[in-house]
Amino acid sequence: MKKITIAIDGFSSTGKSTLAKQLAKQLSYVYVDTGAMYRAVTWFAMQHNFIDESHFDSKALIAHLQDIKLEFQFNSELGFAEMYLNNENVEMAIRTIEVSNFVSKVAEVSEVRSKLVEQQQQMGKNKAIVMDGRDIGTVVFPDAELKIFMTASADTRAKRRYEELKERGDVVEYELVLKNVVERDYIDTHRADSPLVIAADAIEIDNSNLTREEQFQTVLELVNKTVKKS
Ligand code: DC
Repeated sequence: MKKITIAIDGFSSTGKSTLAKQLAKQLSYVYVDTGAMYRAVTWFAMQHNFIDESHFDSKALIAHLQDIKLEFQFNSELGFAEMYLNNENVEMAIRTIEVSNFVSKVAEVSEVRSKLVEQQQQMGKNKAIVMDGRDIGTVVFPDAELKIFMTASADTRAKRRYEELKERGDVVEYELVLKNVVERDYIDTHRADSPLVIAADAIEIDNSNLTREEQFQTVLELVNKTVKKS
């Protein structure tokens, strides 16, 4: 079967990574969660006090970019790759609400974006990859054979995120989660470098009223059609 590149973009908490993981498993493709990479850089910036509630020293972060080594290591027990920052597993640390609050700011920095985009393009050079993010179909792989753009209402997404955080034992108010979702949408769609936009040739899927299985089957059909065509 011909190997293709699958780009999955969309707003935060639309279930992109769940879908991408399922697809990669089914197709025996590599899965890359690019949001995890932006989160790991944000975690690095927090650890070095380059960012907090009241300030963001983007110059200091840029000056230390060469000290950041990002890697995905496959965890066979979990069935997916975990994010490592300078050889340390940061998979749990990067999923907190604090990181979510700062990550859009870090993702606005062009120097951060070009470093990560280059690494992402390297990871996908042999195709057979499912990559999710915000700019995969527009910037990272503009020639991807299949581009999916996922949407869902802010309320649906905030509810999903709230349940996820609660499951992990994070105590947060629903209103705060909703606020974070709405704010991130705004920053992600308004930043100067690579704003979140739907690629002209992407297929939009609104999953507010779709079950995981329905969504998976819809996308799997699109993959099969695309593979036959290419
Ligand atoms: O997918 P996520 O919510 O884990 O992504 C975290 C943040 O990273 C999100 O607010 C926007 C940013 N991001 C980005 O700018 N470009 C990507 N390709 C992936 C994520």
